[in-house]
Amino acid sequence: MKKEIVVIGLGYVGLPSVMNHVENGHQVIGFDIDQRKIESLNRGVSYLDTMSNESITEMLKKETVFTADEQMLKDRDVYIIDVPTPIDDHKIPDLSYVKSAVSLIEDKVKVGSLIILESTTYPGTTEEYLVEKFAAKGYNIGTDLYIAYSPERIDPGNTESLSAKIPRIVAGYTKNCLAQAKALYGDHVSAVSSLKIAELAKIYENTFRLVNIALADELQKITDNLEISVGEVLEAAATKPFGFMKFTPNLGIGGHCIPVDPYYLTWLMEKRGIDTPLISTAGQINDSMLDYHLHKINDYLVERGEKLGELKVAILGVTYKKNVADIRMSSVRKLMEKLGETTEHIVAYDDVLHAYYTKEDEKICCLENNYHELTSFDLVIYAVDHERYEENKPKIIENSRLFYDLTTV
Ligand SMILES: NC(=O)c1ccc[n+]([C@@H]2O[C@H](COP(=O)([O-])OP(=O)(O)OC[C@H]3O[C@@H](n4cnc5c(N)ncnc54)[C@H](O)[C@@H]3O)[C@@H](O)[C@H]2O)c1
Repeated sequence: MKKEIVVIGLGYVGLPSVMNHVENGHQVIGFDIDQRKIESLNRGVSYLDTMSNESITEMLKKETVFTADEQMLKDRDVYIIDVPTPIDDHKIPDLSYVKSAVSLIEDKVKVGSLIILESTTYPGTTEEYLVEKFAAKGYNIGTDLYIAYSPERIDPGNTESLSAKIPRIVAGYTKNCLAQAKALYGDHVSAVSSLKIAELAKIYENTFRLVNIALADELQKITDNLEISVGEVLEAAATKPFGFMKFTPNLGIGGHCIPVDPYYLTWLMEKRGIDTPLISTAGQINDSMLDYHLHKINDYLVERGEKLGELKVAILGVTYKKNVADIRMSSVRKLMEKLGETTEHIVAYDDVLHAYYTKEDEKICCLENNYHELTSFDLVIYAVDHERYEENKPKIIENSRLFYDLTTV
């Protein structure tokens, strides 16, 4: 049955969610507090590398509404919340966006509305921030208002895992809530018995990745010391057809999921008096990788009789992940800051980011296939293996006086 669906928060998760529900034949209202995003969408221009302008135009043709007008939120069938859930400087969960999204709709839902939180968060959030709030307003949850939680698993940059095909975990506050949410998502749904299970499952998925990447980081330190190739060890281990999953070491995990979500869990457990030393240590190992690689870069230069302070440095790739125009929590950016303490001459290039990035103060340049430009630098640090750089890697190396590769293990 065609429903009126509001998606709150039109970022990496919310915008594809709008598209999925439009494709399923629903009338969708995409709401965001960022007026510039709304204007851009209404001009048919995407601000995400993961969404084409054509897709935006298609959605507009199907009468999708993109708005920052709160009045448009009134009396809809479904409200889906896709707002950020970051951590602060002390690695404490920041639920302020969820809180404000709930405040926006608290007086606008109607009897029979379904509200689904999709943002990643600690177990207990949906009950604390949604169920309790609406129950206090007199709603009988499960009878006259339905509340569910369904975490997003989208993997930006991974073209093989289109979000609509990834199985969804769904939980409802009551059986009725779950039935309503399941009916909305359709196929590929894995129902679980409580909101907390769905919330924790998502965080556990990302904690699993953090812990295993930290283990690979530690392997890197071990193989460096033994003077053998970490890549070859990993490839050899990966020939085992069961019980092993390959994770690769890196400069430090960036983005807004893996370096963030595990701290939702450690914070919650600390509050409840439970130690989670493995997760905390994995976080520390991840944080240590930047200094580790800085030392390695320095050793590389010392071996060649070079001094960082005297060199002009080009960094190739700044985003947190290959082929994705997202710079949030990028370790390369942190690397640039650290290198900047020793040399003033650093220029960063990112041709993937450049097409979407608008903040002028960041001064990130574009090579546009002019690899000869690299000859004006002393050291090229190859930091992100975007496809377009990988295809031209021999040219990049050819034009680099000193070439340091952070992407091969
Ligand atoms: N990006 C990913 O790869 C990914 C994957 C899985 C889960 N998640 C989770 O999904 C959630 C959203 O992440 P994202 O990457 O889409 O974030 P994002 O920053 O790309 O987008 C969030 C959007 O919400 C808007 N917003 C903030 N407060 C709002 C409010 N009160 N009302 C309306 N709009 C508001 C922002 O303007 C922004 O456009 C987070 O919890 C994140 O952890 C993200």
